[in-house]
Amino acid sequence: MSKKIGILTGGGDCPGLNAVIRAVVRKSIRLDYQVIGLLQGWRGLMDYGLTEELNLDKVSGIIHRGGTILKTSRTNPFKEKDGVKRILEKKKSLGLSAVIAVGGEDTLSVASRLYQEEGMEVVGVPKTIDNDIWGTDYTFGFDTAINIAMEAIDRVHTTAESHNRVIVVEVMGRHTGWIAIEAGIAGGADFILIPEKPVDLDKVCDAICKRHARGRTFSVVVVAEGAKIAAQEDDKVEEVMVVQDEKLDAFGHVRLGGIGKVLATEIEKRTGYETRFVILGYIQRGGTPTAFDRMLGSRFGVAAVDLVNRGEFGKMVSLQGNEIVTVDLQEVLSKTKRIDDDLYAMAEVFFG
Ligand code: F6P
Repeated sequence: MSKKIGILTGGGDCPGLNAVIRAVVRKSIRLDYQVIGLLQGWRGLMDYGLTEELNLDKVSGIIHRGGTILKTSRTNPFKEKDGVKRILEKKKSLGLSAVIAVGGEDTLSVASRLYQEEGMEVVGVPKTIDNDIWGTDYTFGFDTAINIAMEAIDRVHTTAESHNRVIVVEVMGRHTGWIAIEAGIAGGADFILIPEKPVDLDKVCDAICKRHARGRTFSVVVVAEGAKIAAQEDDKVEEVMVVQDEKLDAFGHVRLGGIGKVLATEIEKRTGYETRFVILGYIQRGGTPTAFDRMLGSRFGVAAVDLVNRGEFGKMVSLQGNEIVTVDLQEVLSKTKRIDDDLYAMAEVFFG
């Protein structure tokens, strides 16, 4: 064996992770590399007893499965006692010449710091249903999530119509509204609220009332969990976000969720239309990946091993246009890929 590489999946799971793991193992075998699975995200490289050798057998029959066979966690070694020291020691004792970290902004930020501060040989693979990682047009998991959300929006349409109701559908999206915008437009939503564009509730209610005034008897509103509602306080405009739990996780995030309920209550109060809500939550992250996500995950996995083979570390594989390219992790993490004004203006064409 010429090289031994480790692979881990960190942060929230998403469909397509197993396609990446399978591709990494397949490509590695061709290069005569050995692959060690590091279980539960960065914890697998920090604590002993959390590794598993990956071979053809272990990755057979997994491409269609959601979740991750390596398990995941939101572990931040920079916040753990001797976390970084333990990582470096374990990497050495396992004889790993590189680590492929598959994750979102948090997991990749750890990878980037380990590379910058400790010179560790790491390669990043961008993953998140939120699709908010800068430097790549798409992250795998997003396509599956928007299709699940779109189907849910389709389904609430018929029940909203039968009951003459407004139904608010809350989707995931912590910093950005990619799921809300794409599933919302595809599902024919009548208003979409996203973190990038705080809106006054009067604007939402006006759109619904205008729609009802022209004879429609129901409306469907899509809201991203991280959307902010603009509230006028004297002469100041405040932006209000709804959280489930103020407690911060290892990466300093609060637990979001619940804006759908707040919005539904306000819409009913202000318009007089009977309003219900549904929170899609983890349904968007679970289950079988779409062909697009399996394909993207497979391309990313192969490209990540190519990077290791070329000795190019501190980088992330990404999709730009239809090309797989590489970008510096540090640059990626200094920005967030947000919905721009043009896309939002296009979405607005369908409001009301
Ligand atoms: O990062 C993806 C994401 O789906 C966010 O949209 C959401 O806020 C978060 O994960 C919730 O994840 P968990 O509850 O697993 O920490």
